[in-house]
Amino acid sequence: MTIFVLTGAGISAESGLGTFRDPGGLWRRFDPMRLATPEAFAREPEEVHAFYNLRRRGVREAEPNAAHAALARLEAGLAARGGRLFLCTQNVDDLHERAGSRAVVHMHGELMRARCTACGASRPSAEDLGLGTACPACGRRGGMRPDVVWFGEMPLHLEAIGDALDAADLFVAIGTSGAVYPAAGFVARARAAGIPTREINLAPSDTAGLFDTADYGPATRAVPDFVAEILGEGPVSGSRP
Ligand code: APR
Repeated sequence: MTIFVLTGAGISAESGLGTFRDPGGLWRRFDPMRLATPEAFAREPEEVHAFYNLRRRGVREAEPNAAHAALARLEAGLAARGGRLFLCTQNVDDLHERAGSRAVVHMHGELMRARCTACGASRPSAEDLGLGTACPACGRRGGMRPDVVWFGEMPLHLEAIGDALDAADLFVAIGTSGAVYPAAGFVARARAAGIPTREINLAPSDTAGLFDTADYGPATRAVPDFVAEILGEGPVSGSRP
């Protein structure tokens, strides 16, 4: 069985990392056009660095939660049964990896990596970035940026994502509002291919009407329940009968 799971900010919410569009969310407090576009970085690099340095520190201080751990169990459990989990995340945090997931496709890039705008080299970087940061590959300063996908830039790995989605036996969206394409269009593509679809979210998303089944509630309860159901482990303690 191949399951395609798409995750969004909601899966990291109970780890203390904010979402974007919920009340108090990041894009409710900050203007993404001033902080999350290549033009913003060219115009105000220090302001953009300060914003991402703050978010990077938040990720360093956060811990994976039971939902991240459940998806790591799902990956191992499916592989043990000759199946496959394709985990595609819109999130730029590293909580899936720190929970034990071994194959994570970050379609919006990774906050814990830095990329040089001069030579293109990308490397792990958990520390603050600034105009004084030198590229370890070419040595230039002033051009290091968070290796994330900004508005107006092309999401990553779209061909591999499309191939995996078309080959899936089940499509599951977890913790995403369905507000941003191309990720928000994955459910329609799955439906068009006759693939069953399931939404796991705190509340119905913008694309809720396109899902065959749904489980609404906090990810730290709903995702372990889902994984237990898939792996045949029966209901987890505290979940609904
Ligand atoms: N458990 C499950 N779902 C939750 C929880 C929770 N504890 N808390 C919030 N949610 C849900 C919300 O109901 C909402 O539908 O998570 C979703 C978060 O939606 P957004 O804030 O829009 O985040 P996301 O869907 O990941 O945004 C997509 O937009 O700005 C870009 O690059 C950014 O990757 C991001 C993309």
